[in-house]
Amino acid sequence: MYAISLGDDGAELRPLEVWHAEEVLATIDRGRDFIGRHIGLPDVVADLEGARSWVKSYADRRAVDGGSLHGIWLDGTLVGGVLFRVWDTASGVCEAGCWLEPAAAGRGLVARGMRVLLDWAFEERGMHRVEWHVSCANEPSINVARRLGMTREGVLRENFPHRGVRTSTEIWSLLAPEWRAARARTEHNDH
Ligand SMILES: CC(C)(COP(=O)(O)OP(=O)(O)OC[C@H]1O[C@@H](n2cnc3c(N)ncnc32)[C@H](O)[C@@H]1OP(=O)(O)O)[C@@H](O)C(=O)NCCC(=O)NCCS
Repeated sequence: MYAISLGDDGAELRPLEVWHAEEVLATIDRGRDFIGRHIGLPDVVADLEGARSWVKSYADRRAVDGGSLHGIWLDGTLVGGVLFRVWDTASGVCEAGCWLEPAAAGRGLVARGMRVLLDWAFEERGMHRVEWHVSCANEPSINVARRLGMTREGVLRENFPHRGVRTSTEIWSLLAPEWRAARARTEHNDH
């Protein structure tokens, strides 16, 4: 079991496992409208059984090195998470995602959690490309992609039917050399 501190405000990144299903349901319940504006997660985690099977789907992916799910805890309460929905070691390509309950937004928790995941993906696991798929209308998530140093590549037009409306998806990505260059710049500025 790991617990990685995300700063001095009590935020921690930990593995999110099936036995956390009740906490997952609770955090989604605290933000159904906010979280579900652009993504279907609250619909999948509709009840305890839904929470359990959603987390289990990531445990199954993890068992075959095909994805992973990590919770963000703030002062001991699960408030969101970061994940690799797609993880393909053969091509070196993966796709990341995230959510927060509304009370936990605006503190940089996802940006901090994603930086840990990006470092692990690029440096420990040898991934080459991390993708970020985001609704064109999801400004906070687009801002996360930008803040992480990702590049906007294009738009999949009206590819995602969500709550009765066809929405378009922006594709952003970050490549391993770009991540290393950004990190080197940060380290240089720190000294
Ligand atoms: C997408 C989502 C996670 C973004 O949340 P967020 O809180 O804006 O993102 P972060 O945790 O990275 O925090 C960034 C904000 O915290 C602020 N912040 C405060 N301290 C910070 C720190 N130490 N580091 C970075 N940012 C910090 C930033 O200025 C920024 O606020 P701003 O956008 O008003 O300028 C959130 O809107 C969400 O969960 N939405 C619903 C689910 C969803 O759409 N998921 C994405 C699917 S693609």
